Formats: sequence, C-alpha cells, structure tokens
Amino acid sequence: MAATETPSNSNAPLSNLQEWEDFLKVRYPEETAASSKPFQATDPNKAKEQFRNYETGARPSVREFYRLNHRHQTYDFVQAKKKEFLSLSRRRMGIWEAMEFLNTLVDDSDPDTDLSQLEHLLQTAEQIRRDGHPRWFILTGLIHDLGKILCLYGEPQWAVVGDTFPVGCAYSDKIVFHQFFADNPDSREPKYQTRTGIYSEGCGLENVHLSWGHDEYLYHVVKGHLPPEALYMIRYHSFYPAHREGEYQHLMNGRDKEMFEWVRAFNPYDLYTKSHERPNVEQLRPFYNELISEYFPAELRW
Ligand SMILES: [Fe+2]
Repeated sequence: MAATETPSNSNAPLSNLQEWEDFLKVRYPEETAASSKPFQATDPNKAKEQFRNYETGARPSVREFYRLNHRHQTYDFVQAKKKEFLSLSRRRMGIWEAMEFLNTLVDDSDPDTDLSQLEHLLQTAEQIRRDGHPRWFILTGLIHDLGKILCLYGEPQWAVVGDTFPVGCAYSDKIVFHQFFADNPDSREPKYQTRTGIYSEGCGLENVHLSWGHDEYLYHVVKGHLPPEALYMIRYHSFYPAHREGEYQHLMNGRDKEMFEWVRAFNPYDLYTKSHERPNVEQLRPFYNELISEYFPAELRW
C-alpha cells in the first residue's frame, strides 16, 4: 500500500501484521535495548519530542491501526472477547500444527524480509538457542506469536496485535497515539479514569484486564504447560507501556516486578531477530518436535 493511500479495509489498515512490529522498531531502536534499566528515560523532554516525532512519521496505515485499536478496546470489549475465545473450543491441534495453521495467514508479504510466519518463529527461537538460553526459553520464542491465529478466525488486526494496555483505569500518556483514546467510550466513564480505576494499588497483573489480543489468547492455551517465566513472556510481550516505558508499576505486585525482568529479557528477541536469513525448516524440525513434546501434549485446545 502506498504511504499516501487511504486504507480500504477498515478492519485491516495494515498491509501485514509485521507493519506494527516495524513501527515498534522505529520507536525502540535496537541500541536502547541492552540497557539494564531500559524504561528509565535519560532526558524526559527529549524523549517526549522523539515520541511525537515517530507518531508524525508513522505510515497512515499504522496511524489508522492505532486509531481503531484505541477507539474499540474498551473494558466491555475485552470481557466479550474473553468470553468468546477463552473457552478454547474452536480447534484441537498440536504446536507444530498451529504453526502451520498460522502460516496460512495471507497478507501482503513483509517488505523487509519476505519470510513466512513459521520462518519468523523459527528465527526468533534459533537466536535464543544460539545465545545459550534454557530449552523452555527457546520454546517460548518458537510459540510466542501463535495467538495471531485469531486473525484466521476473522478477527480484525486491532484486536490481535498492537501494544497492550490495561482497560478499566486511566491510560498512561506513554501509550503511543494517546490522543486516540478520546474516542474510546471508557474515557467518559469516571470509574475507569482514575489512576487505579476498578483495580487497587499493587493488586497484581493477574487481576488486571489488558486490551485483548494474541498475547492473552495464547497464554490461556499454554498456561498449564510452561514455567511461570515463559508464561509472563507470552502474556506480556506486547505490554510495551510496562516493559519498555515502566508504566503501571502501581498495579503490579512483587512477583510481577520480578517476572518482568524475564519479559524484558525476551523483548530483544521478539523485536530484533527478524533478518533475511531463511531458516531451514526441514533441518530444524526434529529438534523442535522433540522440544515441543518435552512440554506439550500432542494436542491442545485452541
Ligand atoms: Fe507478538
């Protein structure tokens, strides 16, 4: 899609899901990722200025994507989607089968890489493996985006991907395109607009509803099978306002704060491992089949 074109499909302003992730890479350039305290801005004024700059520089499709996301992700919408999807009664399939299913997602090819969804997943996992991390960490890299199969159920892009944020309390002004929340009906509900909203100080993220998308969906599919660190990575990998901006600490408990170290450790693999190097799927498959069967039954409920 040309940069000046108006998106034709109001449900799918992005030409592919990768467009959202490419935008994140502009916002969080790789050199800032290695910092031990990535969410501490050095100069608040400069950070704010950069923040506005990448909003202005965003493609119209990305802007429209965030407009829809911020307009429609209400507290009630999240409850409705949880009710609709978390009974996990749509399909039964194993992890590899789910990877192949995700691979049938047809969108315009990623202009940066032209790799398939399955190849992206393998790339992420392989980089984690090269860095000598534990097997559960490699497996987490492999599966972390499988929740994107929500698109194959006909869900709009803005309800599958996008930086997640809590619903039912005030929106952090560090959330990109914050101004679009003005059109969200929740912004006119006083009970949802205090700092803690319907939650309480330190209540723990387990009790907080985030905007709906692929993270939360996959978490519920795999939650009985992986260590807590992996589950945090999966459930919160798109929660950029928390893991990159340091926001919403007041809703976290001590365990969340500890576990977010793992979410932060995972983020560079999520964001920066996409390259042109095509993984050899057939060669890698035996290793990953064995790894999958170490943690998962042959079939899961989706
Ligand atoms: Fe993701």
